[in-house]
Amino acid sequence: MKRYHVTTFGCQMNEHDSERMKGMLEGLGYAEAPEQRDADLILFNTCSIRESADSRFLAHLGSAKKVKSQRPDVVIGVGGCWAQSLKEEVFARFPFVDVAFGPGQIHRLAEFLSSDSLTAQGYFEFEGFAGHLPMKRSREHQAWLQISVGCNCNCSYCIVPSTRGREASRAFEELVAEAGRLAAAGVREVTLLGQNVNAYGRDLRPRSSSFAELLHALDAVDGLERIRYTSPHPKDMREDVIRAHAELPSVCEHIHLPLQSGSSAILKAMRRTYDRSRYLDRVALIREHVPDCALTTDIIVGFPGETEADFAQTLEVCEEVGYDGAFTFVFSPRRGTAAAELTEGLVPHEVKVERMQRLVEVVQRRAHERAQRFVGRTLEVLVEGPSRTDPTRLRGRSRHGKAVNFAGLAEPGELVMVDIRAATSQTLSGEESLVARAVGG
Ligand code: SAH
Ligand code: SF4
Ligand code: F3S
Repeated sequence: MKRYHVTTFGCQMNEHDSERMKGMLEGLGYAEAPEQRDADLILFNTCSIRESADSRFLAHLGSAKKVKSQRPDVVIGVGGCWAQSLKEEVFARFPFVDVAFGPGQIHRLAEFLSSDSLTAQGYFEFEGFAGHLPMKRSREHQAWLQISVGCNCNCSYCIVPSTRGREASRAFEELVAEAGRLAAAGVREVTLLGQNVNAYGRDLRPRSSSFAELLHALDAVDGLERIRYTSPHPKDMREDVIRAHAELPSVCEHIHLPLQSGSSAILKAMRRTYDRSRYLDRVALIREHVPDCALTTDIIVGFPGETEADFAQTLEVCEEVGYDGAFTFVFSPRRGTAAAELTEGLVPHEVKVERMQRLVEVVQRRAHERAQRFVGRTLEVLVEGPSRTDPTRLRGRSRHGKAVNFAGLAEPGELVMVDIRAATSQTLSGEESLVARAVGG
């Protein structure tokens, strides 16, 4: 039996695409190899969001090349955003790669592998969803549900529109049916995926739908206890979506709302299409309808033209909002993007590093403060397995998206109530409650 090995880089969308690749390969009779060196087919699902993502992948590709020099019949395949952004150039630069394909061409992998001659081939046209492909889920009780692909935004720093193409939504009924199948198979939590999830449905014909309508339909699916989604765009964060968090029992009290910068001037240069005050209005609306909602964000430091005053405004927004967590990135110029062409106001490396340190200090301090609101409360936790640091304890996640380590006897996939005793910026800890019972648990 032939064996495959997949290494995944990048976002949740890629993790999900990899599950589809694995499902498809197993359908072709391949089995998963624990290590790259044992595999007949070495696959990479790549990311190009920042330069660091590229370099991490290239190091891995180097080790695959070594495997192939010892066993020339090994097939090397490269899928995902890096492949899409280079297209045919992949083969010129890395002649040992046998097949390269973009995120919209995952299904072509099967065609390639079942063809008679495995000569170098590239597949880069956008052809649609991996949605109908079989999938090998990495977690039994949690699943991704890809609701749309692509991005119609034009953020000046971002490579994604060129790697994932135009926005396209999957059919409403198809998604509800898939959610039903997942729930019937024991999935309790789904995370809806899209580059811009809350733009969902506008392109659907003959009748468009909205993201809020989708949340309502999925909430009605029996057995599905939790719904999450990532990432929404602040410009499309409408009141009907925010209300869904308050009204629908399965929609979790957590919103990831990427800020990118707290300065309106920088937001404009980033082409984010909202300014600081519109962003803060969204936050206020969320807090009005869902006071306990956890808010997380993405922030870029050192965008070209970012002055000390601009950066100070990012710190201010972080102080004011008090995020429960944030992903912070140093600006990285990406091939083909408008921001990579900017030559004025470039922020020196030391300044970026220093700003990043100050930002992380504020984010962590505020997240730590915010997390204290959970101490003394009893929270519903979806059990994932043993704690990574102490195998005698369990690990799971609260509805707010917080990691919880706790003492208890529950099994993975159970929803249990946990008395929270302590909180850091990243994790909560506690004990399984002896009195409270989870609704679905
Ligand atoms: N579609 C999502 C996520 C895009 S990528 C969204 O719009 O929210 C995830 C994050 O990577 C972005 O939110 C941004 O903060 C960061 N990012 C994207 N391009 C970047 C670049 N060129 N340099 C640094 N960070 C970047
Ligand atoms: Fe990139 Fe902007 Fe689209 Fe997000 S919304 S994927 S940051 S272009
Ligand atoms: Fe990376 Fe593509 Fe996701 S560039 S972050 S894998 S959409």
